[in-house]
Amino acid sequence: MGKKYSSSLAAAYRSHVCGALRSADIGCRVKLSGWVQNWRDHGGVVFIDLRDRYGLTQVVFNPENAPEAHATAHTLRGEFVLQVEGEVINRPEGTVNPNMATGEIEVLVDQVKLLNRAQTTPFMIDETSEIGENIRLQYRYLDLRRQPMQEALIARHKVTKVVRDYLDGKDFLEIETPMLTKSTPEGARDYLVPSRTNPGSFFALPQSPQLFKQLLMVSGFDRYFQIVKCFRDEDLRADRQPEFTQIDMEFSFVERDDIISLVEGMIAAIFKELKGLDTELPFSRLSYAEALEKYGLDAPDIRFSMHLVDLCGVFAGTEFKVFRSVLDKKGIIKGLNLKGGARLSRKEIDDLLEVVKVYGAKGLAWIKVNEDGWQSPIVKFFTEPEIETLGKEMAAEAGDLLLFVADKAEITNEALGRLRLHLGEKMGLIDDKQMAFCWVVDFPMFAWDEQEKRHVAIHHPFTAPLDEDLDKLNDKPLTVKAKAYDLVLNGIEIGGGSIRIHDADIQAKVFQLLKIDDEEAREKFGFLLDALSFGAPPHGGIAFGLDRLMMLLLGRQSIREVIAFPKTQKATCLLSGAPNTVSPRQLRDLAIKKA
Ligand code: AMO
Ligand code: AMP
Repeated sequence: MGKKYSSSLAAAYRSHVCGALRSADIGCRVKLSGWVQNWRDHGGVVFIDLRDRYGLTQVVFNPENAPEAHATAHTLRGEFVLQVEGEVINRPEGTVNPNMATGEIEVLVDQVKLLNRAQTTPFMIDETSEIGENIRLQYRYLDLRRQPMQEALIARHKVTKVVRDYLDGKDFLEIETPMLTKSTPEGARDYLVPSRTNPGSFFALPQSPQLFKQLLMVSGFDRYFQIVKCFRDEDLRADRQPEFTQIDMEFSFVERDDIISLVEGMIAAIFKELKGLDTELPFSRLSYAEALEKYGLDAPDIRFSMHLVDLCGVFAGTEFKVFRSVLDKKGIIKGLNLKGGARLSRKEIDDLLEVVKVYGAKGLAWIKVNEDGWQSPIVKFFTEPEIETLGKEMAAEAGDLLLFVADKAEITNEALGRLRLHLGEKMGLIDDKQMAFCWVVDFPMFAWDEQEKRHVAIHHPFTAPLDEDLDKLNDKPLTVKAKAYDLVLNGIEIGGGSIRIHDADIQAKVFQLLKIDDEEAREKFGFLLDALSFGAPPHGGIAFGLDRLMMLLLGRQSIREVIAFPKTQKATCLLSGAPNTVSPRQLRDLAIKKA
C-alpha cells in the first residue's frame, strides 16, 4: 500500500500517492492528487484527509502560511477532487495517528487546485457507515471508492496474478474460448442470445468452457487454463451469481491425483501470497458416501465435529409410529448430539424445527439428557434396550440435547446437515479464522430423476466412471462411481472437476443411460464426439469459483462483496438498469417479433 507513485508521466498531477509519505519524507516538497475524504476546521486551520486508492494523507491549510490556498480550502466539500502542493511536516506532539500509515506526517499546503467538484454523495465514502445494499449497488462506482471494496478488488487482482504465474510456471497456456456458443450441459438454464444473421437461431452463453477445453486437449495443448466468465440462469443465493468467474483448467495424460496435487499447490500459493499463511498439504479427503454419512451434505464444513449418527439399526424394531413408518418406506433415521444443548428452552427447540422444515423435514424429535433422566415427548415410545443403545450410539451425557429427523434419505441428510451448520454458527462451535479444505471424491455417476424417469449425470455427461465400476454400467448404474472430485472450503464448494471419458464406446453407453439418444447426442455435442474420435488423449480438469474463493479468503458474507459490478438476487443490475426492454425494431431485426 505504501509505495511511491513511480510513473514520471503523471508528475504533472502528483509526486507521490496518498498512502506513501512517511517521517523520512519530512522536509520534502510534494504534490498529491485525490478526493476529499473529510474536512475539519480547527480554529481557522483547515484539515483535509486526501484519499486515493493507496491511502489517506492529512493535508493542512494554514491562513498564515498560504492565505489563498486557505481561502480555497473553505470552499471545498467531501469528494471534491484536488491537487495540492506543499511541504511534508511532522505532526505536532499528541496528534500522531498510529492507526494511519501516514499518521506521523502531514502536508502543509501552499498551493491547491480544484480539479473537479462533486455533488453530495448518497452515502459517506467511509468504511464504517452501514449502507443499504441496494443503494450501494445503484451507486456502485461510489461504493467502490470505499476501502473494503478497494481491498477486495486489489486482492482479486493479486489472486489472478498468482494463479497466472503459478500455472505459467507449470507450462499451462491461457487460451480463450467463445462466449457466443452452444449450450453446455452443466445443469443450469442457459442465457440465450438471438442470432440476427440466422433468424430463429440462438447462441447460448457458456455455462463453462467445458466442451472447448476438451477440444483443446484433442488439439494437443496439453495444459490449458483460463480465467473466464461463465453464465448460468439459476436461482441466486449469497454464493451464486448469474455471471461469475472460473479459474478453469484442463490437462492431458493425467490421473485424478496429479490434478489434485497440482491445484493444491496453486491454492497454497494463493494463501501464502494473500494471507501469508502456510497451508497444510495434502488436503484431507472424504468420499461422497462418508460426507453424507457424517455431515449430511456433499460440501461438508469440517471445522467442527458434531457428526450425524445413523440410527436405523437402533430403531430397526421400533414401535414409535413416526419412525416405524419412515423405516417401512425405506427412509432413514439420523440424529445429532448438541453438547450442552439441554439448556435450550422449548421455544429455542421449536425454532430449530423451523430450520429443518425448510429442507422438507416433517418434524424434529428431541431428547434432553438431564442429570435426573431423559426429558422428551418421544422417549415413552422407546424400549429399555433402545434407550440404552441410543445413548451409547450418540455418546449421550448429562447436559446434551439429542435431535432426530426421520425421512427419505435425501431429506434426513440435508435437514440434519443444515441444522448442524445452523447450530455450529449459533452455538459458536466454528472457528472463523480456520480455513478447512477437503476434497470430496468418489461421487456417484448418476442420480435417478423421478419426475423425468431417467438417470441424470451428477457432474456432467463427459465424466469418466471409476475403472473398477465399468462393468456395473449395464445392470447397476446407480452404484457406479465417477472419477469426479470437488474441493470444499469451510462448507462451500469452491471447485469441481473430473477425469473425462476419452473412449467413444463408454461415452455412447453413458449417453444411453442418460437417455440421450444418438440423434440428440449428435445434435448437441456431435463436434465433441467427432473430436474424441480423432485421437483424444486421456484428459481431465477442474474449475474453481474465483468469486467464492475470494469471498472465503477475505471473510466476506456474499460473493457480491468481491465482484466489481454484481447483480442482485433477482439477477438485475441496479447500476445500469439491465436487463431492460428493447425497441420493437431491435426485436424485428432479431426475428423475435413479426414485422
Ligand atoms: P462446476 O459446475 O462445479 O464445474 O463449477 C465450478 C465452480 O464454479 C463455481 N460456481 C459458481 N460460482 C458463482 N456463481 C455460480 N452461479 C456458480 N456456479 C458454479 C463453484 C464451482 O465449484 N466444467 C466444470 C468443471 C470441470 O469439470 O472441469 C464446471 O463448470 O465454485
Ligand atoms: P407426532 O406423533 O407427530 O406428534 O410426533 C411426535 C414427535 O416426533 C414430535 O416431537 C415431532 O416433532 C417428532 N416428529 C414427527 N415427525 C418427525 C420426523 N419425520 N422426524 C423426526 N421427528 C419427527
